[in-house]
Amino acid sequence: MKIAIPKESHPGELRVATTPDIVKKLKGFGFDVIVETGAGNGASITDDDFKSAGATIAKDADATFKSANVVLKVGAPSEDELKKIKKGAVVVAHLGILGNKKDANKYAKAGITTFAMELMPRISRAQSMDILSSQSNLAGYKAVLDAASEYGSAMPMMMTAAGTIAPAKVFIMGVGVAGLQAIATAKRLGAVVTATDVRPATREQVESLGGKFLTVDEEMEREAETEGGYAKQMPPEYFEKQKQVVAEHIKKQDIVITTALIPGRAAPVLVTSEMVASMHTGAVIIDLAVEAGGNVEGAKLGKVVETKNGVKIVGHENVPSRLASDASKLFAKNLLNFLSPHVNEEKKTIEFDWEDETVSGTCITRDGKIVHSMFAGPAGQKKPEKNKEKDA
Ligand code: NAI
Repeated sequence: MKIAIPKESHPGELRVATTPDIVKKLKGFGFDVIVETGAGNGASITDDDFKSAGATIAKDADATFKSANVVLKVGAPSEDELKKIKKGAVVVAHLGILGNKKDANKYAKAGITTFAMELMPRISRAQSMDILSSQSNLAGYKAVLDAASEYGSAMPMMMTAAGTIAPAKVFIMGVGVAGLQAIATAKRLGAVVTATDVRPATREQVESLGGKFLTVDEEMEREAETEGGYAKQMPPEYFEKQKQVVAEHIKKQDIVITTALIPGRAAPVLVTSEMVASMHTGAVIIDLAVEAGGNVEGAKLGKVVETKNGVKIVGHENVPSRLASDASKLFAKNLLNFLSPHVNEEKKTIEFDWEDETVSGTCITRDGKIVHSMFAGPAGQKKPEKNKEKDA
């Protein structure tokens, strides 16, 4: 069985879907591992590192995909890559399928089996396979460092002979995986941290990290969480109330980091232009949701925008790729953890247990047919199953 890892083709993508440590594990299962030359460059992994771990280095994309049974990728395969992947092969990646539903047809047409790792059910057993979690955690950390480097003042309080510097006030909006790591990182840097979220369970988490929780409406927040642990789309009345509460708070903040996402929908706008205009010159806003449409009015994908009143709105694209080395390590481990339970070591093959929730929940196409209930046509369409196991 041949496992192929190409060099990522999306512009600016520095991550790679495997690392030398994971190559050793795959070799240990008896698989051949083929890595495209230069695939690890962006993540500081050389061809020699991969070779020493037992991989074969392929000279280009054609040689990488040719005869591969399984392709491990970070991002969705491009049109060009789809042509190179052989019929019947398996592709495991962050397909971004909720934002590109029509891609399912392309995968079916190409006759391949695809797994969208971002759809991994949020059950305790699957935590180690959760790419959204592993990458968001790093994004939350990096967002604070990006803010600190754009901000023209210090983060911690400093008492010096020349005078006292006040600590930066940092406000985190959305306390999921990225938000929690942003709170922890900003606290470590000595900032005064406040945070808000629609899900009431986050209050305790914010407080346990030393932050202060900003409540919008306790009544409406009681209904804000899905069974899977994600935020629900909130009613317009909530947004009105949130606007008032946030508008008052945001005026006094030095740094705002927004991370609010609703799976499969555009990100909610949480910071309006008026709020941005109310902030002081030199304040910094990091919009981690910019790829999903943005939480901040005026944020631009891939740009640092400076407003008339001197507020910087940072909309970096693909923040995990800005920490490509660690992001690749965790991503690669997520993929290995997903595949491992299905490896038949005797036969040296992967035999998916199609009843397993981690498989059925992520499999989009199988042998050229759309099989996921969220994407299959009206005939035979099933509602997505509820998670059998709940979050730990
Ligand atoms: P996410 O990336 O989907 O969203 C980020 C945050 O934004 C969430 O906390 C969400 O509640 C919040 N948000 C959405 N709309 C908002 C609004 N209008 N105003 C303010 N905040 C808003 O969330 P993420 O990071 O994926 O985490 C969601 C939950 O899933 C967390 O409880 C996390 O602990 C849990 N989780 C469970 C896993 C497992 O059991 N396998 C793995 C990873 C996360």
